[in-house]
Formats: sequence, C-alpha cells, structure tokens
Amino acid sequence: MHTILSLFLTSLLVTIVKSTPPTLAGDIDIIKRDVAITGGGAGGIYCAISLQDQGKSVIVIEKKDRLGGHVETYVDPGTGIAMDYGFALFENTSVVNDYFARFDIPLVKIRQFNITWSTYDFRTGKTAVPSYNPSREEVLAAFATYFAQLARYPELEQGIFLPSPIPEDLYMPFGRFVDKYKIHAAVPTMFLLNAGVGDLLSNAVLEVFRALPRKLVEGVLTSTVLTPANHTVIELYRRAEAELSSTSSLFLSAEVVETHQITLLVRTPTTDGKLTLIQAKRLLIAIPPNPALLDPWLRLTPTEHSLFTRYISTGLYVGLVNGTRLPPTAGILNLAPNHTMYSFPYLPDTEAAVRHHMLDDIRRIQRENPDRFPGTGAPAFVAFAAHAPYNLQVSGEDIKNGFYERLYALQGEMNTFWTGSAWAADISGDIWKFSRGVVLPMLVGEL
Ligand SMILES: Cc1cc2nc3c(=O)[nH]c(=O)nc-3n(C[C@H](O)[C@H](O)[C@H](O)COP(=O)(O)OP(=O)(O)OC[C@H]3O[C@@H](n4cnc5c(N)ncnc54)[C@H](O)[C@@H]3O)c2cc1C
Ligand SMILES: *[C@@H]1O[C@H](CO)[C@@H](O)[C@H](O)[C@H]1NC(C)=O
Ligand SMILES: *[C@@H]1O[C@H](CO)[C@@H](O)[C@H](O)[C@H]1NC(C)=O
Ligand SMILES: *[C@@H]1O[C@H](CO)[C@@H](O)[C@H](O)[C@H]1NC(C)=O
Ligand SMILES: *[C@@H]1O[C@H](CO)[C@@H](O)[C@H](O)[C@H]1NC(C)=O
Ligand SMILES: *[C@@H]1O[C@H](CO)[C@@H](O)[C@H](O)[C@H]1NC(C)=O
Repeated sequence: MHTILSLFLTSLLVTIVKSTPPTLAGDIDIIKRDVAITGGGAGGIYCAISLQDQGKSVIVIEKKDRLGGHVETYVDPGTGIAMDYGFALFENTSVVNDYFARFDIPLVKIRQFNITWSTYDFRTGKTAVPSYNPSREEVLAAFATYFAQLARYPELEQGIFLPSPIPEDLYMPFGRFVDKYKIHAAVPTMFLLNAGVGDLLSNAVLEVFRALPRKLVEGVLTSTVLTPANHTVIELYRRAEAELSSTSSLFLSAEVVETHQITLLVRTPTTDGKLTLIQAKRLLIAIPPNPALLDPWLRLTPTEHSLFTRYISTGLYVGLVNGTRLPPTAGILNLAPNHTMYSFPYLPDTEAAVRHHMLDDIRRIQRENPDRFPGTGAPAFVAFAAHAPYNLQVSGEDIKNGFYERLYALQGEMNTFWTGSAWAADISGDIWKFSRGVVLPMLVGEL
C-alpha cells in the first residue's frame, strides 16, 4: 500500500507541476498554504495561531476529532459542567499569560485544596509510612540547591541548548547527582510532581531538569501556578478550533497517508474518501518523533530514524473513578516501604494492568480499612485516558555523545521543522516558549 500510494503521489506531483488533468481534478482537492502542521496539541496549535496572527496561511492536520492532545475533559452529565482531568497547571510566564490573553481566557492561581493525604501500600491495602520523611524545611533547602544547579545552565530556559563540552553533571544518573549535591530531601516531592518519568534516579540529570523545570516546580511549591479561571483548559482548544475552522485551516479526524518532501496527501472524513493534496512551503511536525507514529506517512531520513529510535518513553494514565467512598477532601498515595530509601511505589507497566490496578487497589484499600472507607459504593471508571508515549527522553550516554545537538540540526532540513515536548520539556509553557523563541523565527524567516 505504501508503495502504491507513493507511486500515485509521485506521478501526481509530476502532473501537477505540468497542469492538473481533469480526470484527477475530480478525485482530489488541492490546497496551498504557507505552513502545513501535523498534530493539533500544545505545540502545533500554538504555532498555528501565532502564524495566522503573523498573516501566514496554515493547515493543521489532527488525527483525533478534537484539538488539545493530552488535554482531557469530563463533562458531568447531571450538571453539564466541564472539567479537565490530569492537565491543569501553567507556569506564570509571559508566554503563558500572552497566549491565554490572546484567547481572552483569564488565568487564576490554582486553588489551594485542603486535602488530607494518607499513604497506603497499594499491594497490601494497608496503611504504610515512608521510610524517609524529610521535614518541609529540608525539602525546601534541597530544592533551593536544585534550582541553584539549574541556574548554571541559563540556556536551558529556551530549549535543550547545552554547554560544550557537555559537563558530566548533565548526563550522570540523577541518583548520583542527588548524592553529589545532597538533595535527597527533594526526591519524594519530585516523584510526586511528575510520576510519569520512569525511574527518576536512573534518568540522566538533563532529563530530570527537562521534566522538572524551575518555574513549574517553584510555582507548585509556592501555590502560584496558574490555571484557567473556569478550570477548563479545553476552552483554549475549543476557541482555537473555532478560529482555525473559520479560515478553513483545520482538518480533524484526518490522516496524512503519504508525503513527498513537503507535499502531503491527506484523508479527511468529510470528502467521501477523496484525498486532499496539500502544497505547503513549510512543514511543521508537532507530534512526538516516535518512529511508530511517523513511519506510516513520513519517509524518515536515515539520520532522523537513527535519532528517533534512541528515545525512551513511558505512559501516563489518568482515570476518574466514582464509588471510592473517600471523603471529598481525602487523598490517598501509594508507597512501598523500603523500596529504595524513598519508598517508591511499585507501578504497573501496561495499560491493561494500570486499568486493573486503578479499581482493584481501591477495592483492596476499602476492604482493609472499613473504618476509613465507610459505606458500600464500589469503584467504577467514569473516565479514563491513556497518554503514551509520554516523557520522551534519551540516555546519559546519548546526551554525552551529542544527541540533542544532532536533533536540533534537523530543524529546517528540507523545509521541515519540529516542535513539541521532545524538543523542549513535556510542559506546555516550555513548548510554547521554545516554539516562539526558536522554531517560529527560523520557520518564518524566508516565508
Ligand atoms: C496526564 C497529564 C497531565 C499533564 N499535566 C500538565 C500540566 O498540568 N501542565 C503542563 O504544562 N503540561 C502538562 N502535561 C504535559 C503536556 O500535556 C504536554 O507537554 C503537551 O501536551 C505536549 O504537547 P505536544 O504538542 O508535544 O504533544 P500533544 O499535545 O500530545 O499533541 C500531539 C498531537 O498530535 C496528534 N497526532 C499524533 N499522531 C498524529 C498523526 N499521525 N497525524 C496527525 N496528528 C497526530 C495527537 O492526536 C495530538 O493531538 C501533562 C501531560 C499528561 C499526560
Ligand atoms: C466559562 O464557562 C462558561 C460556561 O461553561 C462558558 O460559557 C464560558 O465561555 C467560559 N469562559 C471561559 C473564559 O472559559
Ligand atoms: C503572575 O506573576 C505576576 C508577577 O509576579 C503577578 O503580578 C501576577 O499577579 C501573577 N498572576 C496571577 C494570576 O497570579
Ligand atoms: C483542613 O482540613 C482539616 C481536616 O478536614 C481541618 O481540620 C482543617 O481545619 C482544615 N484547614 C483549613 C485551613 O481549612
Ligand atoms: C459510577 O459511574 C457508573 C458509570 O457512569 C455508574 O453506572 C455507577 O452507578 C456510578 N456509581 C456510583 C457509586 O456513583
Ligand atoms: C524497613 O526497613 C527498616 C530498617 O531495615 C525496618 O526496621 C522496617 O521494619 C522496614 N519496614 C518495612 C515495612 O518493611
């Protein structure tokens, strides 16, 4: 199928350059844009809106039936109230404030919930206490040291720009860095702030810096992170969707079936199987650079392939569960006493196991603690979302060997540009800053 389509496209391209024969004109729509953008998540939509605001024409191709990528929204059937689950926090930075203001969406400091946490070993359902439990002062002091180390690399604020030669501090395993700078007291909180990063202590320091950037961590520690006043990040994407649709700049539920340099052949749901040919001056890829996601439609160069296969990723899963019998302001945390000094919990490793554990572990905790979980409700999913691949990162060895310099060298090759979490950090504010400061100036340059 791949070969047939590529033959089809190649011959089509040749004919288009000459003139469009009437037989083909009936079978295919042709549209021309300054920039074609694949992926309608955080990075893709930021760039699409910025480009439109600069007077450029764009087309966004998103495979889902809505924009927003990882943003997930649950609408309560009783009240009609929409709420995001999983995704909510933004750093208080100029790019975040400018972008939300652009859509007239007010931001507020995140509400401080008065949650009473208790800890259980989810494997047994019994209460458990962490083997190591630093005081708040110790935690803050350790974070201050962490921030001071981060501040040695100011170029990381804009993207993954590293000093040359790359200091060992950036590629050693984070566990060694923790010992070196004696910041053990920050580790339990770091785990809670971003539990989706895999084995925190084995990850390279740079990857921890990317996953836990100063602005966000500081914002969470001081309760100054921002969230939309309505508690619906999805509102941003609904407004972007309306704007892009009104200028015929959006294909939802669409699939790129083939590309030839920066000409894309796209299948959209509205055209009875008729394909659309997009001729763009630039291509911006805003989906994770995962060969499994790209190979079906993009012919990766050997360099791209060799870089993208280096990525290690995890999955992050979010569920809304009712029938927990938890009081409204109670929170439960999983930990495994003496599993490393930090009592890290054991985590399931497949989506099926995650779904199973989410309910089964709550049932077990209910059963083991009847006094704390009174009543008879049984847990059931109201909503569930899988986020994979999440947290694309590379090994310390790859960092040392110049992975990120080679990755960044791809920008602009064959008029193709890249943005998204793999290029900055897995945090929208950082992706927007990187898109605004690095990608868009290069991309717009000669348009
Ligand atoms: C549970 C959870 C909570 C989070 N909480 C926060 C938070 O509070 N604050 C924060 O800043 N960040 C948060 N993040 C991180 C944030 O969601 C990501 O950093 C951000 O969404 C990444 O943006 P992106 O543009 O790289 O990718 P995405 O937002 O994932 O966008 C990629 C898009 O490409 C589409 N796509 C994939 N393949 C194709 C294809 N072949 N053709 C067309 N389209 C395709 C996808 O459907 C998706 O819409 C959270 C993430 C998760 C999973
Ligand atoms: C807030 O919510 C209301 C009702 O759901 C909606 O009509 C309105 O557009 C929202 N405003 C913003 C800024 O999100
Ligand atoms: C963001 O930070 C600025 C400057 O520190 C502050 O004035 C502003 O109130 C903050 N925004 C919110 C919504 O808290
Ligand atoms: C927080 O909740 C606890 C337990 O429910 C309660 O005793 C305490 O007064 C609350 N604190 C605030 C500031 O609301
Ligand atoms: C939980 O939600 C499910 C699915 O919506 C519903 O069938 C069930 O009755 C709910 N249970 C409780 C305790 O609210
Ligand atoms: C954890 O290890 C300590 C010290 O070895 C021991 O005293 C304690 O009983 C252990 N706790 C559990 C729950 O295994």
